[in-house]
Amino acid sequence: MPGLHRKDLLGLKDLTAEEITLILDTAEPCREIFARELRKMPTLRGKTVVTLFFEPSTRTRTSFEVAAKWMSADAINITVATSSVVKGESFVDTAKTIEAVGADVIIIRHAMAGAPALLAKSVKAAVINAGDGAHEHPTQALLDLYSIRRHKGRIAGLNVTIVGDILHSRVAKSNIWGLTKLGAHVTVVGPPTLMPPGLEELGVRVCYNLDEALEGADVVNVLRIQLERQKKGLFPSIKEYSRLYGINKARLDRLAPDALLMHPGPANLGVEITEEAAEDPRSVIVDQVSNGVAVRMALLYLLTGGGREDGLLH
Ligand code: CP
Repeated sequence: MPGLHRKDLLGLKDLTAEEITLILDTAEPCREIFARELRKMPTLRGKTVVTLFFEPSTRTRTSFEVAAKWMSADAINITVATSSVVKGESFVDTAKTIEAVGADVIIIRHAMAGAPALLAKSVKAAVINAGDGAHEHPTQALLDLYSIRRHKGRIAGLNVTIVGDILHSRVAKSNIWGLTKLGAHVTVVGPPTLMPPGLEELGVRVCYNLDEALEGADVVNVLRIQLERQKKGLFPSIKEYSRLYGINKARLDRLAPDALLMHPGPANLGVEITEEAAEDPRSVIVDQVSNGVAVRMALLYLLTGGGREDGLLH
């Protein structure tokens, strides 16, 4: 029987290729809602979706809220700074409180890797990981996969290059799991100090020279450089980083005319990517954000039991 037979979405490491494909397929009709005059469907009427973000977010939190509202769920955002967390309440107790007032889905972002998994064990509500430390950001990777499939028609066999701070990037980790499971050839490139050990064991090619890594790339996914890393001496200077690993017009000119340029956002324009490159016709950065709404709609639907009996969004 179709449907996502799991309570939570904690990471792409846990998902099978079939489950990932089911989520991407389910997102297709959700993406069409953008073209509608009335962007509302009754699918999640009576369900309550709560976002609990311990770290800042624009795209992920807003797109979950829009996704829930377009599907007629009650969407509630907990602002951690004005919650009882500041009085010392643990995040598990906070989540149990949220569940006690009727939450069906809790979407959590936390600086600590593993926080969503801990939460998932503590509550009956579905838990979605919206980013945990440097561990995983599964919904970002799902929307990246969806964007690639939407523009290239497939994922298997494509050469995907991920550029930047792989060590600290949860986006990179989830993308690596998802892309390799779906049969893409993944190259990661960045400074040696920002490359975790053991990547080859995940089935990716590791490279330290950007121009070499861009050769033959069908998709280039540029990561946000976390500027605080420079203070820790992990790369010499922003200028040096941009020169060696920044995506600019000259580098884009060497890519195929139908290559895709992606960035999860927020971008440091002029650091990891120039404004000119971000606005290149091959850039799908803005489309990624809209695709994020569709993918998150699909997930909310599947994690609340959709797709098993009904089989259709309505
Ligand atoms: N890509 C991403 O997670 O963006 P936000 O931090 O704005 O949610």
